Amino acid sequence: MARHLITSAIPYINGIKHLGNLVGSQLPADLFARYRRGRGDEVMFLCATDEHGTPAELAATKAGKPVAEYCAEMHDVQAKIADGFRLSFDHFGRSSSAQNHKLTQHFAGRLFEQGLIREVTETQMYSPADGRFLPDRYIEGTCPNCGFDSARGDQCDNCTKQLDPTDLIEPYSTISGSKDLEERETKHLYLCQSQLKDKLATWIDSKSDWPILTTSIAKKWLNDGDGLQDRGITRDLDWGIPVKRGDADWPGMEGKVFYVWFDAPIEYIAAAQEWVDSGKGDDWERWWRTDKGADDVTYTQFMGKDNVPFHTLSFPATIFGADEDWKLVDYIKSFNYLNYDGGQFSTSRGRGVFMDQALEILPADYWRWWLLSHAPESSDSEFTWENFQAGVNKDLADVLGNFVSRVTKFCRSKFGEEVPSAGDYGDAENALIADLTTKIRAYETHMDAMDVRKSAGELRAIWVAGNEYLQNAAPWSTFKTDPDLAAVQIRMALNLIRLYAVLSAPFIPDSTGKLLSAMNTLDTAWPDDVTAALSALPGGHAFSVPGNLFDKITDEQREDWQTKFAGTRD
Ligand code: MF3
Ligand code: ZN
Repeated sequence: MARHLITSAIPYINGIKHLGNLVGSQLPADLFARYRRGRGDEVMFLCATDEHGTPAELAATKAGKPVAEYCAEMHDVQAKIADGFRLSFDHFGRSSSAQNHKLTQHFAGRLFEQGLIREVTETQMYSPADGRFLPDRYIEGTCPNCGFDSARGDQCDNCTKQLDPTDLIEPYSTISGSKDLEERETKHLYLCQSQLKDKLATWIDSKSDWPILTTSIAKKWLNDGDGLQDRGITRDLDWGIPVKRGDADWPGMEGKVFYVWFDAPIEYIAAAQEWVDSGKGDDWERWWRTDKGADDVTYTQFMGKDNVPFHTLSFPATIFGADEDWKLVDYIKSFNYLNYDGGQFSTSRGRGVFMDQALEILPADYWRWWLLSHAPESSDSEFTWENFQAGVNKDLADVLGNFVSRVTKFCRSKFGEEVPSAGDYGDAENALIADLTTKIRAYETHMDAMDVRKSAGELRAIWVAGNEYLQNAAPWSTFKTDPDLAAVQIRMALNLIRLYAVLSAPFIPDSTGKLLSAMNTLDTAWPDDVTAALSALPGGHAFSVPGNLFDKITDEQREDWQTKFAGTRD
């Protein structure tokens, strides 16, 4: 049995993700996980919340809560929403877990033993009023280049010049507004990534089957000169994983924590440990340790393009550098951005539709279908309400929903609520089976390759083929002259509904669940043999007419939502 380890980039704890985030990592990862399970593979699908760093601390302060409490609450909020979208994680962990603390400290210790960590003393801006060192982007001031009065400490948004906080004229803390800033010396640990450059380059070069988006970003960083510089992996913060080497204290590093981007990917592994410790499984090492059985695991990561450098270079540097038997990623599927109605989705500005809001207005399947069928793969793509309305109404309501409703209602009225028995499949049915066989094999090819849009397109074509068959067969007319022929046609159509449920489950799991229960079957076997699959429901098998599967989005609803989501939320 093939074994697939699948991870989605772990969302930051502070705030709820928008639909662009969703379609760039968690949703396609879920699609793939569901598909692999549907094909009978063993799957371990992991995600978590990314809980450390300054943004989490500041969000907690804003919410008036201790940061640990804030994170625990927000984790539950995100877990619930993930559930609402039917994201089928085997475990949704937390990067602040005890398991991740231990594992992160373990990795740091290993890297230290391998001579891959050096200590660097640097000066950084300290704000006595805030009682903390300030990350560059929390310092603003006047740009020495263009005079813009709120240039950030890392860059001026007006003239795009890269800056150091010390370049700013009249710098102040954006947290408290305090102008009383001073340079202080502080010591940090650097991971010597530069020593691993050749190893990483060879590894990336061997991945000729990876999406160009992934490898081009990796290569740009490798070859840009400053791309693979040694990087600081510690911070002067309170909230985070204390800097230790294994169990031992790290002299001179007291009171410091690891940088959030160092510990976050390690949580992919720790999440599997959490899965075991929470009683859901009994062996995480067979997923993560190549010396304990993970050598036959295929590991796939899903993420937005902004995350690619961390997954192609930084995290692999940790894994290579540790020189133990950790499982390395086999395939990195990355995504461009989904834009919102002529601009960008923006978390900081509250622009677009956020996951919780989406579920308040429509069921998960509507979003899943539209987002996945418009996944930003080869380029950025755009959400507009018109496009969303058109996609949902056409594909889900007119094609799939309508097919199911016509077939089941017609059967109920003419043959009763059981699959009609008379007659045998003839030429038209065999031609349909041949056509569907070609299409289903193509669908599998696209799904295997994680070509999300092509998969959606092929699935839609499979639905359309059934509609065309029904249209040509026209059982409502044949019934008048040849009821046995109509029985054959309806038997085929009812079997198509079950087949559609199985094939479409990775995209629209709630609706396909309804179809299966209406078809009164637990048989979700993948249609390796399409002929057999289309005879799975025999004559005499009882079924029921499902309630309306998809409601069309009306123009009025669309306009309402357009207005409601035109502004920003805080
Ligand atoms: N929290 C990051 C983001 O939302 C992703 C972290 S992915 C991991 O962009 F690899 F670090 F886990
Ligand atoms: Zn400027």
